[in-house]
Amino acid sequence: MLRKVLLTLLVILVAIQFIRPEKNQAVGMATNDITTKYAVPATIHAVLKRSCFDCHSNNTEYPWYNNIQPVAWFLNHHVQEGKGELNFNEFASYPPKKARHKLEEVGKAVTEGWMPLDSYLWIHHDANLSSEEAKLIADWANGLRNQIPAPADEKKELQH
Ligand code: HEC
Repeated sequence: MLRKVLLTLLVILVAIQFIRPEKNQAVGMATNDITTKYAVPATIHAVLKRSCFDCHSNNTEYPWYNNIQPVAWFLNHHVQEGKGELNFNEFASYPPKKARHKLEEVGKAVTEGWMPLDSYLWIHHDANLSSEEAKLIADWANGLRNQIPAPADEKKELQH
């Protein structure tokens, strides 16, 4: 009985190795990259690349264990969800209201420490933000947000 169960599990494990999610790896220039429209100093860009781009861009640097299922499914889920919420490679296409909101969230995320995701930091220790780096990112995001003029409907909301 036990042998049968183990054998079935093994067969399933082997079978699912062939079901791979498509990788998040774009080719060519990102025409709507944040840098095409907004100023992103090199130091800021380096930190974002190191700590955020794996889930918030069109290019993920995959670890070797992404070749193992169901690990890749789990990672893919985070990547799809993360870039759906915020994609630095598409940022230039965001309307002003959305761009302002996302930048505000970036400031909050790093100040309050809910980004990068904990489960990511367990393995990517280098993605950890020092408190200086978190402040750099937050100051940049909030500063940039204030440079983008609030659209009329947002101003109205602010008055309420
Ligand atoms: C391992 C993947 C991963 C990494 C790395 C990561 N994020 Fe996220 N991020 C997500 C996911 C998934 C969500 C959506 C679910 C949630 O809000 O928890 C998200 C949501 C967000 C949001 C919320 C957007 C909104 O409008 O609600 C912001 C802002 C954000 N991330 C900023 C960052 C920043 C800044 C970094 C780097 C310092 C970062 N993230 C690193 C996966 C990631």
